[in-house]
Amino acid sequence: MTRNVVPYRIKVVEPIELLSREEREERIRDAGLNVFRLKSKHVYIDLLTDSGTGALSQEQLSQMMLGDESYAGSESFFRLEEAIHDIMCLPHVIPVHQGRAAEQVLDHILIKDGMVVPGNTHFDTTKAHIEFRGGRAIDCTIEEGRDATIEHPFKGNIDLNLLEKSYDKYGKDKIAYVLITVTCNSGGGQPVSMENIKEVSDFCRDKHLRLLFDAARFAENAFFIQQREKGYKNKSIRSIVREMFSYVQGCTMSAKKDGLVPIGGFLALRDEELYEDLKPTDILFEGFYTYGGMSGMNMDAMAQGLYEVVEQGYLAHRIGQTAYLGNELLKREVPIVTPVGGHAVFIDGRRFYKNIPEDQFPAQLLVVELYREGGIRAVEIGSCLAGRDPDTGKNVRPALDLCRLTIPRRVYTLEHFDYVADVVHSVYSGQKDRSTGLTFEIETKGIRHFTSTFKEI
Ligand code: F0G
Repeated sequence: MTRNVVPYRIKVVEPIELLSREEREERIRDAGLNVFRLKSKHVYIDLLTDSGTGALSQEQLSQMMLGDESYAGSESFFRLEEAIHDIMCLPHVIPVHQGRAAEQVLDHILIKDGMVVPGNTHFDTTKAHIEFRGGRAIDCTIEEGRDATIEHPFKGNIDLNLLEKSYDKYGKDKIAYVLITVTCNSGGGQPVSMENIKEVSDFCRDKHLRLLFDAARFAENAFFIQQREKGYKNKSIRSIVREMFSYVQGCTMSAKKDGLVPIGGFLALRDEELYEDLKPTDILFEGFYTYGGMSGMNMDAMAQGLYEVVEQGYLAHRIGQTAYLGNELLKREVPIVTPVGGHAVFIDGRRFYKNIPEDQFPAQLLVVELYREGGIRAVEIGSCLAGRDPDTGKNVRPALDLCRLTIPRRVYTLEHFDYVADVVHSVYSGQKDRSTGLTFEIETKGIRHFTSTFKEI
């Protein structure tokens, strides 16, 4: 019998506390109805993000003791580089302190005014960095990926027709690079199939375009390929990862996700010339090119984390936890994005609060209500986060208005998820007919969802 078993037991615990209803009301009011402004000690279950929030393993902690803090030529860097060679088969590594730093270093060199980056739905910092350099992100995700209810095994896939249209419109010289985000976070943690990666790769090779991964959740994507794509059932995660990376010229990586570390990231590349161009930029923004803003301890924890994240037992349990929460919500008839993605369960704000107009931020309201009801911190991935169009200044209306329950790695148990499902259900049964939502009290310019404050209408 093969069972999906828990591949660890707990050695160190961190206490958490559920404040009283009155205290929660007060805290969220003081935070301007924005959960980013809460203190973490006032949160009972923190599902804000899976970024840097995982538990370290005993092997990671012991590797950290080997950390070499030399400014240049650190042994820890070479161990990290070797892990990346081993797992992703990419020869040149530029360390950076997190994913958006990789974006900044890369875009500083590759993007000039008026250039574009076609891809599946770009993560918000990715899009913001492209725009900061005067470029534009072009969303070429398949139609199914924009719908919360259509069943499709790979909703993160790129629509080749849209990619071709982009090419026809902008041409080779205006396309800085093509980016596939695995898994596609903004689209609901949805995977991209190997077939799609290969097709996009063939297209890019044919047109002489550079193809890169945003690899933040590469191992989770590989697990979905193994589970869902024909021909991969008996392949190991390591071999699937190797094949995925064989189709791209490099990647940006936020190791806070599938690097299993609290902080860290890198750029890994095939192209030696680009690597040489990026070194001085890394030194300018991040630090010397053998530490890039990380400590030696950090790099050793990451090297170990990269090996642990591609273990079959780890991934089956990890994706299993997310699926468990998704199923519990479906049993309670809560409208979620299906199929459930890798790192989070996404509640569909527009179906949850059917009567609340889009410009009154239904998903953001749900985030506030989950905190009030049960001390749970979720995050809005919807109209508030989408911000304003840099050209017209109008509110962008994203394809989906979502409330994300993001699952930290190796942190919570099924009991926690049962509690979360009950709290969501309680808000749903009590409030689904509500007809008024939120409006800005103070809207921050630029990236607005972290700091803006709201009031109830
Ligand atoms: N790319 C993807 C797909 C991401 O999900 C993130 C971060 C980044 C890049 C940026 O990496 O945070 O290390 O600078 N996502 C986090 C989240 C913040 O909550 O989804 P970073």
